[in-house]
This record gives sequence, C-alpha cells and structure tokens, in this order.
Amino acid sequence: MLIAANFKTFKTRQETLDYYRDVRTFIEKNKITVESMIFPPATALNTFKGATVVGAQNAYAVENGAFTGEIGLNQLKEFGIKTILIGHSERRHILGESQELMVQKFDFFKEQGFTIVYCIGEPLEVREEGSETLMAYLDEQLEGIDLNYENLVIAYEPVWAIGTGLTPSTDEVELIHTALRQKIKAPILYGGSVKVNNAQELLSLNNVDGALIGSGALQAENFCRILEIAEGLQK
Ligand code: 13P
Repeated sequence: MLIAANFKTFKTRQETLDYYRDVRTFIEKNKITVESMIFPPATALNTFKGATVVGAQNAYAVENGAFTGEIGLNQLKEFGIKTILIGHSERRHILGESQELMVQKFDFFKEQGFTIVYCIGEPLEVREEGSETLMAYLDEQLEGIDLNYENLVIAYEPVWAIGTGLTPSTDEVELIHTALRQKIKAPILYGGSVKVNNAQELLSLNNVDGALIGSGALQAENFCRILEIAEGLQK
C-alpha cells in the first residue's frame, strides 16, 4: 500500500521540513511499513533523509534550458528527487496542459528511471453520461502512456471529488479501479477528498492500492493517522 500527500501550493520550505520530521518520527516510532510519499511545492524541495519519498509535483521535460518558470531534471537531481507527479487534474484543467505534453513529460522522466505517479480522472459532466463514457474518457488520458513501465503508479482522481468533500460511493470506486486493473498492473491509488474518517473504507476496497491525498493530509498528524489506518489494512 502507498499513501501519498500532494501539498499543491501549500506550505513553505520550513513547514515542509517540520512536516517531514514529524512524519519520520511517527514512522520510526510506530514501525510503519506502508510506503509513503510527499509532493511539496518546488521551492520546498530539499535533501530529505527518511523512509518517506519526496517527489516533484511538476517539472518540464528537459535537463535545463530557456523555459521561464519551469524546473527541469537538473534542479531535481540536486536534491536526489526521482519521483514525479504527472497529469494532475489541476495541471490539465487549470494550467491547460495537453495530453501531448503529459506524454512528453512521461517519456522523458521514464527515460530517467523516475517513479511516475500518473493521474487520471473525469469531470462531473463526463461521469453523468454513464460508465462507458467515463471509461472512454479515462482511456484517452492514458493514451500514449506506457502502462507496463515498471516504476509507474496510477492515481485515479475524479475531478469533481478533488477538494470538494465529495467522493464516489465505495461501489463506484471499486468498479472503476477493477476496470482499470484489467489493463494496468501498476498500483492504482484513489484520490479525491480522502480524509482520516473515510480512509479505512476507501483503502479496504479491492484494487485500491493506496491514496493520493490533498487537503486531508496537509496536517502531518492526519497523514500519520492515515498511514496508521493503511498499516492496519496492509495488503
Ligand atoms: P483533496 O484530497 O484535497 O480532495 O485533493 C486530492 C488531490 O488532488 C490529490 O492530488
């Protein structure tokens, strides 16, 4: 099982250090074996020593170059970062990143051997059209992505469940994860309003291999409580 926290545009460098220290202490004290990851903002990347993997929320598909506002491979290498989030709905829908750009990033970081947490998820209007349309939409987001890549993790995050407090029913989550499992051997995380109080039921579902959590993991204490729940369910 893998529990990941996406800080998005929250937390400073110092707050990230404090968070990491609290999580490390908890993991060591409680002998947590569940895998954990955090994705702080680029300004808080650092050399962290501990069991929790630190990844980048985004990077451009270059070593370095003239790409104002972006960071590339060399900036990640400085901190030994070897994990990246690609395809998050906020990058697709707010920042307007295309599938073509996702594939470009995927191929580049795959070539570098990065662990890639690749996000997919449908907006509400797609879900309302039924499961066939929904699965077709998810398939489009997987187009061009090497699903057999050994360091791939998929995160299924329905757009309408992100930051809203809404989640699909457990039956729906299980149905979609099971359908995805037919073509994806990689771990499949669920994301979208995962909190301490619903983690147990979501993480217990078949073909849910962990969670990608935003607001529900912004407090180190909550992240640790979800790690503890996952540890209890370890599968
Ligand atoms: P929330 O947990 O805040 O809904 O965000 C989910 C998410 O987007 C994680 O990447």
